[in-house]
Amino acid sequence: MDEQTLVNLAIEARKHAYSPYSKFPVGAALLARSGKVYTGVNVENAVNGLSICAERVALFKAVSEGERGFDKIAVVCDAGYCRPCGACRQVLYEHASDLEILMGNPDGQFKRTTIRDLLPEAFTL
Ligand code: THU
Repeated sequence: MDEQTLVNLAIEARKHAYSPYSKFPVGAALLARSGKVYTGVNVENAVNGLSICAERVALFKAVSEGERGFDKIAVVCDAGYCRPCGACRQVLYEHASDLEILMGNPDGQFKRTTIRDLLPEAFTL
């Protein structure tokens, strides 16, 4: 799939973010090896610590539907080029150690990186 299309899907998904506490909506679009795209948004909660990031929502949706193996994820937020948090890096690595990451902004511009660059010397069992 075209990279710009994946970023655009993350921008669309971001509209559904549930972020009343941080007021910081994030959207993600994850391309599975099957060719299917799974979107995610951050879903926050009144209880601190129970919120979840957009990247993990997208990944967990996909894994829970039987997907294994992922090629690319686009992440969009309003903080320059959106960088996945450390927790998401670890979780993404577990399922896709060669994942490409498109760090996007709401205008549709993006930068490319990889999970290996973002999480060198990753922990695995
Ligand atoms: N957030 C994400 O969804 N993904 C990221 O990569 C960074 C942070 C969310 C978590 C929280 O709901 C809000 O952004 C502010 O931290």
